[in-house]
Amino acid sequence: MKGIILAGGAGTRLRPLTKVTSKQLLPIYNKPMIFYPLETLLTAGIKDILVIVAPDHAGDFLKLLGSGNEFGCKFTYEIQDKPDGLAQAFVIGKNFIGSDNVTLILGDNVFEDNFSAAISSFQSGARVFAKEVPDPQRFGVVEFDANKKAISIEEKPKQPKSSFAVTGLYIYDNTVVPKAASLQPSSRGELEITDLNNVYLHEGTLDVAPVRGRWLDTGTFESLHEAIEFARERELAKTV
Ligand code: DAU
Repeated sequence: MKGIILAGGAGTRLRPLTKVTSKQLLPIYNKPMIFYPLETLLTAGIKDILVIVAPDHAGDFLKLLGSGNEFGCKFTYEIQDKPDGLAQAFVIGKNFIGSDNVTLILGDNVFEDNFSAAISSFQSGARVFAKEVPDPQRFGVVEFDANKKAISIEEKPKQPKSSFAVTGLYIYDNTVVPKAASLQPSSRGELEITDLNNVYLHEGTLDVAPVRGRWLDTGTFESLHEAIEFARERELAKTV
């Protein structure tokens, strides 16, 4: 299993914080944001990691993360020239992925959960993780039938069919590479991760598991603040 951390994008919703730096380098209490998704991958046993960054701050990521020696892993870097969508990670990462399965984590997602078992038991298809949230219209939203089977996923729907958000950690088999390559840009011009998940859903190979513990997408000032409080509480709990 290989890992990808997607840490590009323009961070426009967090201006002016992101005017001179990348969102994923902003502090979440005592660590840069990208350390949290990195720790999630490392804890899950993934040690071969591609970091995808935007051109403007590529040097800062290299300086912060280096070869991976310090973290007991190996980093490969790729540049995403423009934020053309999350699913583009698998087009950019084609050579890195080779013939392996791959876990993608968004560089701005903070998870409390441990995904080791979900990753080691994964065999084929796709596995995504859902969390009940008060504001589902901000996310990919998954609808379940009476047997808890996923029946639809919609990206940022105005009228969400459930309150379950698809979170920013995705496990895929190797067919993700051709599947991502065959996607068409959405109306907002992006290769959507939701379209990719729908390919697996329609194929009958998408598994949706619950996220245990807290999950924070740090894309807004409010959620960034919440993530900082969460990280602080967790850090202080370690010292008592
Ligand atoms: O956080 C989970 C949500 O992430 C999912 O529920 C949604 O289905 C998914 O589309 C995504 O929604 P966001 O609105 O959070 O996506 P955003 O455009 O903010 O991008 C997420 C992260 O990925 C962010 O740190 C920037 C980075 N990114 C984004 C794009 C579009 C890239 O590195 N490259 C890109 O092309």
